[in-house]
Amino acid sequence: MNLNNETLETLKKLRTIHWNFNDKEVTDQEISTITKHCMRAANATNLSNYSIIVVDDVDVIKKITSNPCKTKCLVFCLDYNRIAGTASHLGYDYFPEVSWYGFIGGIFDVSILTQTAVIAAKSLGIDSLITNAIFRQDIRDIKKILKLPEKYCFPVMTLLLGHSDKPDTQTIGRLSANHVVHKGTYTPISDISHEDIIAEFDNIYPEYLNEQYPHYLDWYHQVWEKPSEYSKRGKSSKLDEQIYEVLRESGFNV
Ligand SMILES: Cc1cc2nc3c(=O)[nH]c(=O)nc-3n(C[C@H](O)[C@H](O)[C@H](O)COP(=O)(O)O)c2cc1C
Repeated sequence: MNLNNETLETLKKLRTIHWNFNDKEVTDQEISTITKHCMRAANATNLSNYSIIVVDDVDVIKKITSNPCKTKCLVFCLDYNRIAGTASHLGYDYFPEVSWYGFIGGIFDVSILTQTAVIAAKSLGIDSLITNAIFRQDIRDIKKILKLPEKYCFPVMTLLLGHSDKPDTQTIGRLSANHVVHKGTYTPISDISHEDIIAEFDNIYPEYLNEQYPHYLDWYHQVWEKPSEYSKRGKSSKLDEQIYEVLRESGFNV
């Protein structure tokens, strides 16, 4: 059996470009090929309850991501406006708030859609960055800038697409599957060597190791997870609370 093919090769080459895309353009034709093919992703009840906003204005990209990235950007939104609008058109005037189930299902749809776009882009030789940047800002501003409908529409994933000067072989890597894939039933963490996991992270991020941080996870827990406005474990920040508020204003019953 051949366990290698072009698709698996594309998956092996996936990598994130952290904002520093070069000036090479992603063409409109490439963008429409990516958007058309990512919509092949599975979606609940096959209603396509999402919208993709293609942003190519550098000023708008800067406003919504806080990064002056000269590239193209797709904002993947949960969007129940088509189904609500057509319901009303057909005389079904009882379109309810989107339930928790609908919301979570929609998040799955949008996530799969985004990753399928990442793969489609890579197959065309285009690199990407998925970012949560919009959630580090006032989500009401983001909705206004993109002219998103007030109700039933919420931006979820932001994807920047572009080219990079980084050599194609340079990828960050992942934990090995034996720490992540459980056969039959779950293997408790106590049965797994913590040392192995710590060492694997050191291998993935050697540039973070020094006297102060003997392991990557020392840096992670002391620097990255240090309490900040948008990164407080287990506690809601003002931004988190605002996201909830805007979701509820937008008709999502979460
Ligand atoms: C939901 C999500 C949000 C992310 N947000 C950011 C971000 O805001 N900034 C960034 O530089 N990378 C972001 N990333 C990219 C990850 O940091 C990156 O995928 C990870 O470090 C692994 O690197 P690789 O994709 O090159 O293998 C995000 C990825 C995901 C899936």
